[in-house]
Amino acid sequence: MDSRRKTLLKKRDEVLLGGGQSRIDSQHKKGKLTARERIALFIDEGTFCEVGSFVTHRSSDFDMQNQQILGDGVVTGYGKVNGRLVYVFSQDFTVFGGSLSETHAEKICKIMDLALENGAPLIGINDSGGARIQEGVVSLGGYADIFYRNVQNSGVIPQLSAIMGPCAGGAVYSPALTDFIFMVENTSYMFVTGPGVVKTVTNEDVSSEELGGASVHGSKSGVAHFTASNEVMCIQALKKLLSYLPQNCEEKALNLTYTEGNEMRESLANSIPENPNQPYDMKEVINEIVDGGSFFEVHQAYAENMIVGFARLAGRSIGLVANQPAFLAGVLDVHSSQKAARFVRFCDAFNIPLLVIEDVPGFLPGTDQEWNAIITNGAKLLYAFSEATVPRITVITRKAYGGAYDVMNSKHIGADMNFAWPSAEIAVMGAKGAAEIIFKRDIDRAENRDLAWKEKEKEYSDLFANPYRAAARGFVDEVILPEETRIRLIQAFEMLQNKVKNNPKKKHGNIPL
Ligand code: HXC
Repeated sequence: MDSRRKTLLKKRDEVLLGGGQSRIDSQHKKGKLTARERIALFIDEGTFCEVGSFVTHRSSDFDMQNQQILGDGVVTGYGKVNGRLVYVFSQDFTVFGGSLSETHAEKICKIMDLALENGAPLIGINDSGGARIQEGVVSLGGYADIFYRNVQNSGVIPQLSAIMGPCAGGAVYSPALTDFIFMVENTSYMFVTGPGVVKTVTNEDVSSEELGGASVHGSKSGVAHFTASNEVMCIQALKKLLSYLPQNCEEKALNLTYTEGNEMRESLANSIPENPNQPYDMKEVINEIVDGGSFFEVHQAYAENMIVGFARLAGRSIGLVANQPAFLAGVLDVHSSQKAARFVRFCDAFNIPLLVIEDVPGFLPGTDQEWNAIITNGAKLLYAFSEATVPRITVITRKAYGGAYDVMNSKHIGADMNFAWPSAEIAVMGAKGAAEIIFKRDIDRAENRDLAWKEKEKEYSDLFANPYRAAARGFVDEVILPEETRIRLIQAFEMLQNKVKNNPKKKHGNIPL
């Protein structure tokens, strides 16, 4: 064989070995896959094209010139997922702990630029000890080059991050700038400062898992949108998410072929309990309305009083935002408002129509909420809905009280179609509280206070605890039976599919961050 061919084939073998077999074995021992194994699971067989496999670092401090490993700790390239183009980088922990050198960063940036220019999603698989300690500032510069591109790409192409190992220090900010973060339980963690620094500064004893593991970020901080029990499931979830998304902001998501059947859902007829204060599980309502098995929840364990996720309706990809009466009565608070606002903005950026299912008693009162800026955070959701130009439909199942009525995609802030069930109550507040305020004097003067209160409560309830006042004004377009919801939504989204709406020309708005 020609020696030059031999050299190439030898180098290719070297590339595949990364940091060597013993480091690959130790990666496996930790319950982790290698960078290449992850790509092989993620990308359709035979479609991955690697770019930059012979890149090496340029460092010569600390004898680094004698420690050259082809690829320099990150596998980058493009390929297909379920037949659609994606760009991917996957950090190789077997090479200097996946740490980010100047050249490692350049490889990632090259892929990011290609993804942007060619309009396809970018997926980053993170498993890294952070900045390459031997390189110093050029490594920090490399991170900033990536952060800058994350921001330029934001809203143009979907950017997804899977955390499959350490992600610490400033390195966390690249995933944080992307649209969705996936984490794997027990083998991944993210934090700005690790347990050692925490101990020194605050004297807290905390493990990596407690400080920044998947369950913490999936439930407490909301940093992670999806958590998976292992890497294989994490990669399946990444692929599933991509199936709901368009390739870029100029396109619409794929419509799956759908054959119409009986779209009436009799099971929804009795979804709402007799007692207006009794909870019910909104996820059951959602699953009845959308195509069977299509609901894919985002932020499942975070701010559970608000449900957000993707689904399909007659094969069409939609984004779903719903109050959850089974958790804190579905109240709007700081975290649920933020959660929904970010999701709404993602859907709007990528032309995914929005369905809102509303049962909200209002904003959560209290010092905790006020001091944590429920004003600013509630405004985020108001802002996000108001600026969204995608088709937007609301279904009010029960309560739509107070400011929350306005915020939850009301007609006034641009919803295209607003339906209400006969059980809807659209009012400034619940009848009990309202009676207490506006009839206080009458109630105080009455011989039987309790009876008077009940009478006044009924009077208010008869007037306002229904959808017809709002429907008379056109704030509700139609009052529908719950079992008609699915068919009415299919028809309404079809009617809205060519909607064109533009916000006033501006550099950019100023969402209350
Ligand atoms: C160079 C690194 C490295 C790094 C790990 N390695 N981190 N090399 N730069 N940042 C190397 C190790 O020397 C080792 O090499 C191999 O990777 C595996 O590391 P281990 O420590 O053996 O692995 P493990 O026990 O699993 O621990 C992983 C770890 C630990 C927790 C990530 O390596 C660690 O704490 N690394 C340093 C983390 C850090 O402080 N990074 C800088 C953060 S600041 P050998 O040859 O033995 O296999 C930062 C700023 C970003 O990132 C700023 C952006 C604005």
